[in-house]
Amino acid sequence: MDRAAGDRAVPGSEAGVAGGASQSLRHESAAMHVSGSAAYIDDMPEPKGLLHVVPGLSTRAHARIVSMDLEAVRAAPGVVRVLTAADIPGHNQVSPVGKNDEPLLASDIVSFHGQPIFAVVAETRGQGRRAARLARIVYEDLPAVLDIDQARAAGGALVWRALTMRRGDVDRGLAASPRLVSGRIVMGGQEHFYLEGQAALAQPGEEGEIRVWSSTQHPTETQHMVAHVLDRPSNLVTTEVRRMGGGFGGKETQANGPACLAALAAELTGRAAKMRLDRDDDMMMTGKRHDFAVDYTVGFDDDGRIGAVDMVLAARCGWSADLSGPVTDRALFHADNAYYYPDVRLRSEPLKTNTQSNTAYRGFGGPQGIVAAERVIEEIAFATGLDPLDVRLRNVYGTGTRDLTPYHMTVEDSIAAEIMTELAEGCAYRARRAAIRAGNEDSPHIRRGIALTPVKFGISFTATHYNQAGALVHVYTDGSVQVNHGGTEMGQGLHTKMVQIAMREFGLPADRVRITATTTGKVPNTSATAASSGADLNGMAVLDAVRRIRERLVTFAAGHWGVGEAEIHFRADGVHVGATVVPFGELTRAAYLARVSMSSSGFYKTPKISWNPDTGRGRPFFYFAYGAACAEVAVDLLTGEMRIERVDILHDAGQSLNPAIDIGQVEGAFVQGAGWLTTEELVWDENGRLRTHAPSTYKIPACSDRPGIFNVALLEHAPNREETIFRSKAVGEPPFVHGVAVLHAISDALASLDGYRSCPGLDAPATPEAILRAAERMRARAAARAGAASVA
Ligand code: MTE
Ligand code: MOS
Repeated sequence: MDRAAGDRAVPGSEAGVAGGASQSLRHESAAMHVSGSAAYIDDMPEPKGLLHVVPGLSTRAHARIVSMDLEAVRAAPGVVRVLTAADIPGHNQVSPVGKNDEPLLASDIVSFHGQPIFAVVAETRGQGRRAARLARIVYEDLPAVLDIDQARAAGGALVWRALTMRRGDVDRGLAASPRLVSGRIVMGGQEHFYLEGQAALAQPGEEGEIRVWSSTQHPTETQHMVAHVLDRPSNLVTTEVRRMGGGFGGKETQANGPACLAALAAELTGRAAKMRLDRDDDMMMTGKRHDFAVDYTVGFDDDGRIGAVDMVLAARCGWSADLSGPVTDRALFHADNAYYYPDVRLRSEPLKTNTQSNTAYRGFGGPQGIVAAERVIEEIAFATGLDPLDVRLRNVYGTGTRDLTPYHMTVEDSIAAEIMTELAEGCAYRARRAAIRAGNEDSPHIRRGIALTPVKFGISFTATHYNQAGALVHVYTDGSVQVNHGGTEMGQGLHTKMVQIAMREFGLPADRVRITATTTGKVPNTSATAASSGADLNGMAVLDAVRRIRERLVTFAAGHWGVGEAEIHFRADGVHVGATVVPFGELTRAAYLARVSMSSSGFYKTPKISWNPDTGRGRPFFYFAYGAACAEVAVDLLTGEMRIERVDILHDAGQSLNPAIDIGQVEGAFVQGAGWLTTEELVWDENGRLRTHAPSTYKIPACSDRPGIFNVALLEHAPNREETIFRSKAVGEPPFVHGVAVLHAISDALASLDGYRSCPGLDAPATPEAILRAAERMRARAAARAGAASVA
């Protein structure tokens, strides 16, 4: 039953037969997840006298608050206090990037429909919710800018500096190209839809101390925000998170508001306070994935070889900067996907709008850049009549003269061509493509399509200083181990991987290594668990801590038992000290009696990286993660419905730390990516009110949307060329991009309507309505073509 038990031995590993890393150890909380005993914030035992915090939200997209009458709210049953901006002792500010454009509570201006203006503190959540509705707020409407087009028409105010990346001479390159295509692709945003909504519980302590349990990906930032809002030093604030019920980027910055409001309530009432957002409030208040409109011009030749690419990537950022700067930067960093552009100019346009402040979401802008890159490939394929896979293979990064990115980093590790080729052969792409084309000819209503797309994803935070991590490891006298590190667990299996590192190095079974909640009290100054680098960064920090302790134990054992240090090995059956095998617990007891320290911190910072946005040059990424996906879909032309019939994915996780978890990450990411591009649609009305703020109107993939055939494999024998933790590669975000294959497969199905002679120009999400509209377009084109032919 226990898969872990069978998986402990790691033959040939550095630590001999002792095990952990590289094995499919099950998720440390798997049993608790499925039995419902894993604790999330709202499951924690409630402290005595706990109060509940409920937000009062703006009902205008952009307005001046003329007056605010909260008397009825205050007088409502169960209400203990009502919080407004005036109650904040410190800074009324939760901008994560120091831009001071994000008040915790609005005071005179509201900037989006859903912005928190006040918060009710009540004895029960129900009382708080009923009371919040009694507020009487008088607004004077101001001009609201809701989307990319409106923002541009209104002058194009930005929330962050625009970035330009250029290499070569794009104008000359375009002029010299035999063929040119220009176009635009629009792709929607995406709600995170973590199963556990935003939640925080704050408890006041002695002399201004405050403890905050938060569902946050970034405990250190939450700590800092609470400290600033309450006007006190960081050493009085401790943030703790055991696990999140999903984050997906939505809790990198968006968790700060609830944590600060809970802390403020606790501070002002002296009682513990919890804020657990209702799903509708959560969706109305919090930022999402950025929707983008990308205008592109590409120059190429008849063989489908790209000469030059010019793109402007505009994003709806919402009312404040949040992480929109780095997100739009990352879109540029990925607007080449796996392809070499000889002459290139890429420009970002992070537009300010009166909507939720868009934020991190799995891929962090990268997927949007890649969707644009793949549209360009598709345009070339339809213009030349080539198989899109051949266009991809002809333009993929190679070595020598075709390896320089638009940000002047050399791609040293490209395996995109090999992966695409291996996958295409493995899933019989070419034969199936031919069969699908033939089959479509006599299928009036159901059309099939197939596409194979690659991903190349840069790993590291582009803010270089974020690429550091700490750990704290304790070995107790009985030989049991406690591992702490700065990363947070949101279901991705980070804690499991960290446990495996300690298991491997000490030769211990899983039940002797305990991972604890992430807390700013144990490991300080941490980075967000984001950019897929949780395991890369924290894994090396844990390894550093573990090895320091191991070295001390080795030194001690060598002296104690009189053997050479080289004769001591940590193995599954115990510590081999020369010819004798000493149980780990015996060694630690002896070491304790000899006064050997068995606790250590660890630290890591990523080498080699640098990035200068002013020059648009550097090596922002330590390495790239690669993969490819092939999707086959069936589209019903009568209803617009679409089914994913088969998906094959080959993904590069380097020397995987845990293949079972990594495959789970690839599967989940693919489904989430496909959901983004097909069913998940955010709709705002003309007043800027989000109309899709519950699962009844916002459609995430269900189990039944899983591909009929779903083959996921990790690339084998592909250790990372760079020295990462046991040569693994980050896996959290890159496979999200595999969903792009579905968009292109739908496009391929629609292209059949015009004899595969024109690019359907399918925008995302490709909902049934969008599919029907595109089908109409394609039929009209075919009809016009037939008309022109009969006239001629
Ligand atoms: N997997 C699960 N189950 N839940 C999540 O919230 N977040 C994703 C990814 N995989 C997420 C997930 C995102 S956005 C990132 S950046 C990484 O996990 C973060 O974790 P890692 O750096 O440890 O991979
Ligand atoms: Mo992930 S979007 O970097 O939290």
